[in-house]
Amino acid sequence: PGSLVQEMFNLGEMVTATQSCSDETLLLLGEHLGFDVQIVSPEDEDRELLAQFNIDLDAVVAEERLVSRAPVVTVMGHVDHGKTKLLDAIRKANVVAGEAGGITQHIGAYQVHVPHEGEDRAVTFIDTPGHEAFTAMRARGAQVTDIVVLVVAADDGVMPQTIEALNHAKAADVPIVVAVNKVDKPEANPDKVRQQLTEYGLVAEEYGGDTMFVNVAAKPGIGIDELLEAVLLTADASLELTAPIDGPAQGVAIEAHLDKGRGAVATVLVQKGTLRAGDSIVAGGAHGRVRAMLDENGNQVAEAGPARPVLVLGLTAVPGAGDTFLAAEDDRTVRQIAEQRQARRRAASFANSRGRATLETLMEQ
Ligand code: GTP
Ligand code: MG
Repeated sequence: PGSLVQEMFNLGEMVTATQSCSDETLLLLGEHLGFDVQIVSPEDEDRELLAQFNIDLDAVVAEERLVSRAPVVTVMGHVDHGKTKLLDAIRKANVVAGEAGGITQHIGAYQVHVPHEGEDRAVTFIDTPGHEAFTAMRARGAQVTDIVVLVVAADDGVMPQTIEALNHAKAADVPIVVAVNKVDKPEANPDKVRQQLTEYGLVAEEYGGDTMFVNVAAKPGIGIDELLEAVLLTADASLELTAPIDGPAQGVAIEAHLDKGRGAVATVLVQKGTLRAGDSIVAGGAHGRVRAMLDENGNQVAEAGPARPVLVLGLTAVPGAGDTFLAAEDDRTVRQIAEQRQARRRAASFANSRGRATLETLMEQ
């Protein structure tokens, strides 16, 4: 470490031996000393792990039949601006008559069907608590959402978390539809919201821009059909929504918890392939066999294709929000993948507990 500190000093950086180093610093130092430093992302590492089991996540896309799929929409926005109410309103507008008032399962994502230009179109909504899960998913490299619906309360206007959500959507390069909510309130000023967002590069169509703004009131259920229409128009205009339907399922765990009677319960979104009851799956460091799959109405489903969210029972542990999952050939394979991932995570958290890569630990590798 002492001589590395000296080398860093020669490079013009004052560091201590126990200080964390950025990737750039490590690359520079490596080059300076004639080493080829490789920064390996957790995703790359996981791909290598899967390769040991002859699993290639990309092979599925290349070989299989592509079908059109539902757009996946995440609702984001500032606290109390009405995200949950809006999701409730969308869902209520789509609950089949007779089912209303029945027991609807809380599931972290659901799919609705919307009549659009003479067709029955499915739209998947992700109902996550705030940006946390979204950030976690992006951090893990799992692009889950196709469209972000940005909810802004017309009586409150653009707020810090509105901007945060906007930046998340921009960073993920996802089209945004703005739902200007609470327009039923006397103090609502929906035009002000449009003006405010102009400063952040979201210019409404009626102002000559290309972002769709829709006035809604989630509580009394106003403007919901128009919002769904805008979502589908955005999807059709800017997205190629296809996915392979054959082959073992791959996707993302949206949320999961331990249920008293049912054990680990996970809401998963299938992204590729088809998930079937009885499949062996691994989600993050959890594995198991799909004992049952339930839809948003609590009905058992036998299989789920791309963009379909389902509640999965049968995992031996609770995966994290944003963990990817995949179905594999047998119980043994998924158990081994889960065990190796767990071992890796333990090692990583041990390394983290000792600090990130520092000059002291660098030469131990
Ligand atoms: P967090 O999850 O805490 O970030 O809030 P949220 O964005 O999910 O807001 P939520 O849906 O819980 O709504 C917040 C409050 O605003 C609730 O009291 C709703 O009843 C009210 N509200 C939501 N939409 C409307 C609307 O369209 N009109 C009126 N008048 N009130 C609304
Ligand atoms: Mg909420």
